Amino acid sequence: MIAFDPLSSEERVRIVDLHPEVGDLRAEAIEGLRRSEKALPCKYFYDALGARLFEAVTELPEYYPTRTELGIMSRAVHEMAESIGPHATLVEFGSGVGLKTQRLLDALIEPSGCVLIDISRAALEASAYQLADRYDEMEVIAVCADYTQPLRLPRPHRPSSRTVAYFPGSTIGNFTRDEAISFLGRVADLVGQGGGLLVGIDRKKDPELIEAAYNDALGVTAAFNLNILRRLNQNGASFDLGTFRHHAPYVESEGRIEMRLVSKVDQSVRIGGAEFGLSAGEHIVTEHSHKYDLKQFGQMASAAGFRLTRQWSDERDWFSVCFLEAEAA
Ligand code: AVI
Repeated sequence: MIAFDPLSSEERVRIVDLHPEVGDLRAEAIEGLRRSEKALPCKYFYDALGARLFEAVTELPEYYPTRTELGIMSRAVHEMAESIGPHATLVEFGSGVGLKTQRLLDALIEPSGCVLIDISRAALEASAYQLADRYDEMEVIAVCADYTQPLRLPRPHRPSSRTVAYFPGSTIGNFTRDEAISFLGRVADLVGQGGGLLVGIDRKKDPELIEAAYNDALGVTAAFNLNILRRLNQNGASFDLGTFRHHAPYVESEGRIEMRLVSKVDQSVRIGGAEFGLSAGEHIVTEHSHKYDLKQFGQMASAAGFRLTRQWSDERDWFSVCFLEAEAA
C-alpha cells in the first residue's frame, strides 16, 4: 500500500504547454484535393458546430458504437480496474473527460494521477480543473501537445505503480492501419515497460449494420460530413454545399467505412488561389473508419510492442474494449 502525502493546491493541477504546431487547414486541404482520389483530413470535422453534430451522431438509433461501448464499460469497468491495478497513472488522449473516463476513474483503485493530452489549451485547462474538482485526491497534469507526434510525459509528483493510457470511442479506427500501428508504438513508448493501453475498437460485422450507422435516416451524419466544407468556406474556399451529397459505403476489401462527399455536378472549386475541378459523381474522401476483428487487432498490437492480454465485448460482439500491455523492448 502506498501512503500518499497530501498534495498542495499547486501540485494538484499542473499545465504543461509543449506548444504544438497547429495544422494549416487551407494548406492541408489543398494537398488532399491535389491527390488522384481527392481527400480532406477528418480532424477538421471538429470545429464547435462539428463537435455538436458529432454528439448528435452518437445519439442516433443507427449509431451503435457509443452506446455499445458505454454498456461494456458499465458491465466490466471493475474488471478493467482490476487488470490495471491500484495506484496507476491514467493517460487520456483528447481533452474531453467524457462519461467513459469518469466511469473508469470512479472504478480505479486509488489512482495516483491523471494526465490529459490535447492540442487545444483552453479545452484542456477547463477539463483539468473540472477533473481536479471531482477527484480531489488525484494529481492532474494537463499537457498541451499533439498526441499524433512523439512526446514525453512529465513526471507526476506522486509515485505510481504503472502508466495506463485510455483511448476509447474506436477513434483508433480513424487512422490508417499503418498510422494505427505507429500510434500504438508511440503509446507503448509513452507508457513504458509494464504500462498498458485500454482501447475501444469497433468490430467487423454485417456490413448493412455498419452502413446504417454512417448513413442515418435523419441525415445527421450527412450534416456532420458536409460541415467540413462549410468550415473550409470560412477559410477562403468556395464550396457550394448543395452540390455535394453524403455517401458512406463499407468497403469490404479494406474493412472500413469511407465517408465521402460526392459531387452532383461538374464543377470547379477554389481554395485561396488554388482551383480544383470535380466531375459529376467524383468524390472527396473525408474519413476512414476501420472495423477490426480481435485477431487482426492483436497482430497490430504485437507489431507495436504490445500484447493483447484481455478484452471485454458486448453480447453481440459488435464492439470490444481491449487491454494491451507493453512488452519489454
Ligand atoms: C470519432 N470516430 C470514432 C467516429 C467513427 O465512427 O469513426 C467518427 C464518425 N464518423 C461518422 N460518424 C461518426
